[in-house]
Amino acid sequence: MVENKIIDGKEIASKLRERIRDLGKEFKDQTSITPGLAVVLVGENPASKVYVKNKIKQTEEVGFNSYEYKLDESVKETDLLNLISELNLSSKVNGILVQLPLPKHINSEKILDSILPEKDVDGFHATNVGKLWGGRDTLVPCTPLGCSIMLNKLFDDLSGKNAVVIGRSDIVGKPMASLLLQKNATVTIVHSRTKDIEKICKAADILIAAVGVPEMVKKSWVKKDAIVIDVGINRIEKDGKNKLVGDVDYVDVFDVVSKITPVPGGVGPMTIACLLLNTLNASLSQKSLPGIKLSSLF
Ligand code: GUN
Repeated sequence: MVENKIIDGKEIASKLRERIRDLGKEFKDQTSITPGLAVVLVGENPASKVYVKNKIKQTEEVGFNSYEYKLDESVKETDLLNLISELNLSSKVNGILVQLPLPKHINSEKILDSILPEKDVDGFHATNVGKLWGGRDTLVPCTPLGCSIMLNKLFDDLSGKNAVVIGRSDIVGKPMASLLLQKNATVTIVHSRTKDIEKICKAADILIAAVGVPEMVKKSWVKKDAIVIDVGINRIEKDGKNKLVGDVDYVDVFDVVSKITPVPGGVGPMTIACLLLNTLNASLSQKSLPGIKLSSLF
């Protein structure tokens, strides 16, 4: 039953976008407001340009307004802060996203903390990071939220399960660990300074790879019937071709796992769908309306 092993992120994301479109319409009927997302891109990073293009396209496809700001690589930090102040004040903008990474001369933390927490659809503001770890209701980073929604389809609760997160980034690893903890998993984060990574991963019922090393996770790292969520998106040369691969050696581990997300078509599409979900939730919350319950989504 090969198909049943694959968690089809593309399909789940497509259903999620349909729900968001419908819920967005309801919100519009109720408030006469069309949710608006501002996306700020600084410089010419090719991967960032592709991500931003897709974010804008999908925002419009669900019927939301998008506002795109492309700034030169050499933009001054104060000019970027001024733009964010304007977006914070704009009643048309419900969500603000500044694409990372930013050029070295700009202090990313300062920029992220200048976004109003209620418009911080990335969930990167210090206030929202704190709220997430405190188990409060907040805007949650999009990639871990996408992974969580995929896991929710398999389990309501992760009591008694060992979850291992490979990678400790602020964007994925740390918020992912927090979400798993909220679902009662026993959580371990492993990283470049961890001893015996392979052995720790082998004990995982749920293994989340978010490390950015192509095909690092091999069969010998994976427990029989584990669930593997692969967050990696790595471009490599393989068999004379340019290929997109994850942090997990998909072919090698496939026989061992009970479920796995492919790359592409796994976590990637869920990330943008969750950005739209956060934009809708930010819009609802700004009108003092209750947010969308994850359990009500499917
Ligand atoms: N760069 C890589 N992933 C992300 C993300 O989720 N949000 C932003 N703003 N930048 C990123």
